[in-house]
Parts: sequence; C-alpha cells; structure tokens
Amino acid sequence: MIYDANTYWGRQGLERAILDALAAAGKEIDRLTVDDLAPADQFHSGGKNSTVRLARLASLKPVMRVLDVGGGLGGPARTLAAEFGCQVTVVDPTESYVRTGEALTARLRLTDRVSHRAGDALAVDTAGGMFDVVWTQNSGMNIADKERLYAGFARVLRPGGLLAFQEPMAGPVQPPIFPVMWAPDATTNFLRAPDAMRAVIEAAGFRVSAWDDVTSELAGPSTGAAVPAHAIQRIIMGEAVDAITRAGKRNRDERRIVMTQAVLVRA
Ligand SMILES: C[S@@+](CC[C@H](N)C(=O)[O-])C[C@H]1O[C@@H](n2cnc3c(N)ncnc32)[C@H](O)[C@@H]1O
Repeated sequence: MIYDANTYWGRQGLERAILDALAAAGKEIDRLTVDDLAPADQFHSGGKNSTVRLARLASLKPVMRVLDVGGGLGGPARTLAAEFGCQVTVVDPTESYVRTGEALTARLRLTDRVSHRAGDALAVDTAGGMFDVVWTQNSGMNIADKERLYAGFARVLRPGGLLAFQEPMAGPVQPPIFPVMWAPDATTNFLRAPDAMRAVIEAAGFRVSAWDDVTSELAGPSTGAAVPAHAIQRIIMGEAVDAITRAGKRNRDERRIVMTQAVLVRA
C-alpha cells in the first residue's frame, strides 16, 4: 500500500460527525468541556488518562512552549493547555484534522493557548523560537526514518528541553496481527523494538529521564472492549474498528505490540 496521511487518516465532515456523536451520547455540544470531548478527540490508547499520565511524568508547567507532533485533532493539546497551562502548537499532515482541530479549539475558547498547523513530523521547525517540549502520542508508527524523526525533534528543542512521547513499539513476539489502527498490513507499519528505539533517540542527542512500559495500564480498543459510537476510533475507522480491536487485543495479550511512555532530556 502507498501511504498518504491525508488519504489514510483524513475524513470529510469530521467536526459535524464528532458533534453529532457527542450530542447522541448526551453531551451539551454548546457547552463542551475538555472532558466531554475526550472520547472523540484523544486519538490514542488510554485516552485522556494517558495524556495526563505523560504530562505528569514530564512535570509540565504553565507557559511551557510545547510542539505536539502528529497532534491530530488537538485533544491532547487542549488538555495540556487547559489543565497544565502550556502554550501548544499542534502540527499534523492530515488537513481535515487541522481544520477540525481549529474549530474544536475555538469552541473551547482556547485559541490563545493552542494553535494548529499542517506539517509533517519529518520537517518540524521552530516557528520563531525553540520549544521547551516536543510532545508526541501515537504518531510515529507510519514513519520509517526514525533517525531523521528524532534528530528533527532535537533540532527544535532548547538545550535541556524535553521530549515526551507515547508510542507503540514492536514487542518481543513478532509479527504483529493486522489490521492495526495505523496500517492495514505490514507495508505501512514501521515499529521498532524498545531497545532499538531507545538507541536511536539517544543517538539523536537525548538522555532518558523516564521510560515506562504502559502496555497493561492503558484502556482503549487494544483491550478488546467495545468501541462506542462517539469514540474517535469509530468515527474515523467506522466498522473497520472492530477487526482492529480484535487484532489489538491479540497484539497486546501476546506482546506483539507494546506501548511506551517516555520522557527524555535534550543534552
Ligand atoms: C492515532 S492518531 C494520533 C493523534 C494525536 N496524537 C492524538 O493522540 O490524539 C495518528 C496521527 O498521526 C498523524 N501522522 C501520520 N503520519 C504523520 C507524519 N508523517 N507526521 C506527523 N504526523 C503524522 C496522523 O495525521 C494522525 O493525526
């Protein structure tokens, strides 16, 4: 399969689909909060809880300047802004996510703290000033060139700045069962094992501060639990999410895919 982020991840009418699904789930869409939106805008294992876990692991603080790479619809970014006081720039190549993210950020009145830009993880830039934190959750799975990816993160961080991430990685049992959320088959799946990832990231100029295997902690489709209509996984993947969930449970139970949360310091 030839991978194109907009084709694979993008959807038209996404803001309407999210608002309708939340309304049907009983949310007051004219008074949405970060928590109301969370099932529909935190597009990763563990949902908002895992975002908060990682933010605490990184000790994020008010006015830190954060670049959220592959930040999707901006759910994590709005949490970092509303609950940790950060200033967040979200960059994502999927244009419908950028547009929908902007609309949701405006709806939550967070435009002074969260901005959205179209862009690729392999071409990050400082946008006029170094970042205190590069943040990324479940967004590097389709990227083969990990060396270039993490070198780019080091380039936009100030010395002493933090890289905080949550990423699926290849487990001790291979291969993974497909489909996974990010790939229908092996051709667009680029996971490496934790030790190999750690070596690449350290070589890019980072020192590990925390490195946690959170595979068994995180809720979400990989537990095999039913995915409700207002979950972003179902809004994006439709009925295909059921096969992804079945494979996800096996990948987790058989340790074919493991989930890592880590915080590293730029030397
Ligand atoms: C599972 S979603 C995660 C979104 C967001 N990080 C979150 O946790 O809510 C995967 C995201 O990776 C993004 N992505 C895919 N390829 C990318 C690339 N080359 N550079 C940056 N982001 C990419 C997709 O557009 C999508 O938003």
